[in-house]
Amino acid sequence: MADLPYRGRTVAVTGASGSLGQALLQELHRLGANLLALTSSAAPLALVDPGGQPIPLRQHHWRCGQEEELCALLAEVDILVLNHGVNVHGDRSAEAVQRSLEVNALSCWRLLELFAVAASAERHGAGQPRELWMNTSEAEIQPALSPLYEISKRLQGQLLSLRSLELAGPQLRIRRLVLGPFRSALNPIGVMSADFVARAVVRQARWGWGLVIVSPNPLTYLLMPLAALSRWAYFRLFSRAAA
Ligand SMILES: NC(=O)c1ccc[n+]([C@@H]2O[C@H](COP(=O)([O-])OP(=O)(O)OC[C@H]3O[C@@H](n4cnc5c(N)ncnc54)[C@H](OP(=O)(O)O)[C@@H]3O)[C@@H](O)[C@H]2O)c1
Repeated sequence: MADLPYRGRTVAVTGASGSLGQALLQELHRLGANLLALTSSAAPLALVDPGGQPIPLRQHHWRCGQEEELCALLAEVDILVLNHGVNVHGDRSAEAVQRSLEVNALSCWRLLELFAVAASAERHGAGQPRELWMNTSEAEIQPALSPLYEISKRLQGQLLSLRSLELAGPQLRIRRLVLGPFRSALNPIGVMSADFVARAVVRQARWGWGLVIVSPNPLTYLLMPLAALSRWAYFRLFSRAAA
């Protein structure tokens, strides 16, 4: 019998129409998940499996800045994958700053907070904790030849580290996805394929890893755990939980 570890679990993926969004949806479908595609695009999303059969999914339109409208929907979600992102490359205009911070950092932070509230509410499933997977990037700690991408991804990663101290627990498992370059509209010259990255991400998540790294750069495997550990210690020492 096929191994279907995600059978009965509803997985929502943002940035669903992007390269990694589609690859993750396909991989999670293969493993039995019920799919919810969260997309800012108005175009219908149609995915097929390797046999050419259409993949069943629900599609929901959302916009950065209007995350609150997803509250009711998030209550149904077992695993939320925050995967949307933008790269303005060399643009350093005020509009580019705002767009990068909003899309890459602040909307992810707001969705993290909303999903944590949903996770702390009454469980609707069979006892498994809800999971939030946040796709940052190795741009959290390495140059990406795109200053605003680095700034916004670092902010996203640091907010995740800070708020995880408070939000992660028995009801909410948080996984950080730290990915190297893969081919997509955001990075047409990436060396990996989105399908390869999606399979590797899901494999490591199934192993239970909180820090999921997929990169051809060996330094990322050394530096990212060190960065995560030092942030954890620093944020614990110099911040405290809400009263
Ligand atoms: N490609 C790489 O080398 C690389 C490396 C490390 C990390 N990443 C991260 O991986 C994630 C997926 O990127 P990708 O490479 O698959 O790029 P992609 O194909 O361009 O997908 C990104 C998706 O994000 C969504 N998005 C873009 N602008 C948005 C906005 N203003 N509001 C809401 N959603 C918006 C769009 O999906 P919808 O139209 O469906 O909303 C878009 O298709 C991103 O977070 C990226 O930073 C990429």
